[in-house]
Amino acid sequence: GSLQMYVDPLPQMPKIVGYSTQRGGTASVSLTIGMYQKTWKFHRDLPPTPVFVYGTSAAAATFPGPTIIARHGVPLSVTWENNLPDRHILPFDLTVPTANPVSGGVPTVVHLHGSVHPPQSDGSAFAWFTAGFREVGPKWTQATYSYPNVQPPGNLWYHDHALGLTRANLLAGLLGSYVIEKPSVDDPLQLPSGDEYDLHLIIADRSFNVDGSLFMNSTGNNPSIHPQWQPEYFGEAITVNGKAWPYLNVKRRKYRFRILNSSNARYFRLALSNNLPFDVIGSDSSYLSSPVKTPAIILAPAEIADVVIDFSQSTATSAELINDAPLPYPTGTVPGALDGKVMKFIILPCNQSDPPDNSTVPPKCVPYAGSTATGDVTKTRYITMYEYQSDAGTPTHLYINGLRFEDPATETPKSGTTELWHVINLTNDNHPLHIHLGMFQAIKVQELVDQATFKSCMTLQNDAVKCNVTAHAVGKVLPTADYEKTWKNVVKIEPGCMTTVVVAFKLVDTNQTYPFDASAEPGYVYHCHILDHEDNAMIRPLKLLP
Ligand code: C2O
Ligand code: CU
Repeated sequence: GSLQMYVDPLPQMPKIVGYSTQRGGTASVSLTIGMYQKTWKFHRDLPPTPVFVYGTSAAAATFPGPTIIARHGVPLSVTWENNLPDRHILPFDLTVPTANPVSGGVPTVVHLHGSVHPPQSDGSAFAWFTAGFREVGPKWTQATYSYPNVQPPGNLWYHDHALGLTRANLLAGLLGSYVIEKPSVDDPLQLPSGDEYDLHLIIADRSFNVDGSLFMNSTGNNPSIHPQWQPEYFGEAITVNGKAWPYLNVKRRKYRFRILNSSNARYFRLALSNNLPFDVIGSDSSYLSSPVKTPAIILAPAEIADVVIDFSQSTATSAELINDAPLPYPTGTVPGALDGKVMKFIILPCNQSDPPDNSTVPPKCVPYAGSTATGDVTKTRYITMYEYQSDAGTPTHLYINGLRFEDPATETPKSGTTELWHVINLTNDNHPLHIHLGMFQAIKVQELVDQATFKSCMTLQNDAVKCNVTAHAVGKVLPTADYEKTWKNVVKIEPGCMTTVVVAFKLVDTNQTYPFDASAEPGYVYHCHILDHEDNAMIRPLKLLP
C-alpha cells in the first residue's frame, strides 16, 4: 500500500553559520563536516531507512544535510570527512567511468554547486577520497576546501560529485543547502526573514522498499552493456526536507521559500491547489531584477526558485503544493496520485496575538541580475548533446560533443571573459545544463528545422558549422520564463532546439575578474544535471586559461 500523505510535519535542517561575528565585524571560520551512514525516518509509517548523510557529527547528520549560511566576502574553509562504511547501500555500475578504489570503501568528493571558487576546491570527480583519505583519486590535492564567497548573494547547495557514483551518492542523501547572505543587498528588500518565515524546501523523489530501504534498480535497461545503469531514476514518493509528503502550518502572512529540486532526474512543475501565485524573487545564483508573479514554476534537477507566498491572500484553509511535470520531461508520462503531490500548507486562522507582517514583496530586487551584456562576448562555441541507443532503441549513454569525459578539454575560456554558447539538443529530453564556476542565462531558444537532415549530418561529422547549423536554427523561437531571466547556474535545454546562453567567467555583479587563479589544476567541468546522464557521461572538462 502507499503511505498516507501529510502526516509528518515539515522539518528545517540544522543551520551552520559559516562565519563568526566579533566586535561588530565578521571573521572566517573553519568547519569540519562529515559523511555518515545512519538511518532516517522518511515517514511516520515507514521503517527507518539507511542513508549516507552530512553532519557535524553522526548524531547531528540529517537528510538533507545542514544548511550552511555563509557571508559575502567572508571566506569559509570546510574539511569534508568521509566516515562511510566499506560498502555502498545502493547499486552502482563499474561499466560507466567510475571511481573504483582497490582498497574498497565509498568514494566521495564534495562540490559546492553554484559557487565561484578555485579549481582545487571544486570537488573534481577525479578528486574523490574514501574513508579517512585511505585512498584518493588521481586529481585529489587537499582535504580542506576554501570557498571565497565573493559572488552575489544567492542560493547554492553542496552535494557529492564522485566519478560515476554521483547518482547513487546523492540518492543516498549526500546533499545540503548553502546560502550566501549579503546584508547590504538582502536587508533593503525587506523579505520575510528569520527562522520562522524564511524556509528551505528541498524536494527529492525517492522509492522505498517495504523494509524502509531506498529502492534503486540494480538491473540496467541494457544489462549486457551496462549491468546496472538506467537512463533516469524516478521515485514515486516525493520528499521535502527528508519527509515524504509533509505538511507545514503557516500563518496568514508572507513566507519566503527557497525551493531546490535535488532529485536525480525528475522535473517539477509546481503550483498551489488554492491558486495562490508565487512571487519569484530570485533563482539559484542571483536575485531577479524585479519579482515575477506566476501561477507555476518549472524546476529541473538542481534548479532553485526563491519565492514569496502570501497566505493572507488565501480564501482556503489549506493549499497543496502540486506537481504536473511529465517524466521524463517534457514528453513522458504525467504524474499520478502520488508523485502529483509534494506537500501541504495548513493555513491557520488569524490570531490577535500574531505580530503584524512587515515584510514585503519589493517592487524591485537587484538590477545587475537582468543584464545579458552580449556586447562583451569574446568567443562563441557550439555545444551538442547526443544520446546513443542500443539496437533495441534504448539509451546506452549520452555524450556532449560526441566526446568522453576523459577526452582533453575543448572548452577553454579565458578567465575574466564572457562567452556565447549555442547549445544544441539532439535528444528527445530536456537536459539541465550546469556549468561550474560560470554564471549564465538563456537569451534565445530556437527550434531546429529539418532536424532529421541536421541530426544525420551531426551523427557523421559532429560539427555544427559543417552541418550548417545556421540554416537549421531558424525555427520557432520559444519564450524563456520571466523568472529565469537572471544569472543562473542551471539552464534547461529544450529538445530539438538551439539554446543560446551567455556565460560570464567573471563576477557578474562587479564585472571583476576572479580573485584567484581559475586556470589551476584540476580545472572545472560542465555537465547535464540529470545525475544518471552525468554519470554516463554527459559531462566534459572545462579548463580556464589565465
Ligand atoms: Cu550540482 Cu557538477 O554539479
Ligand atoms: Cu541529460
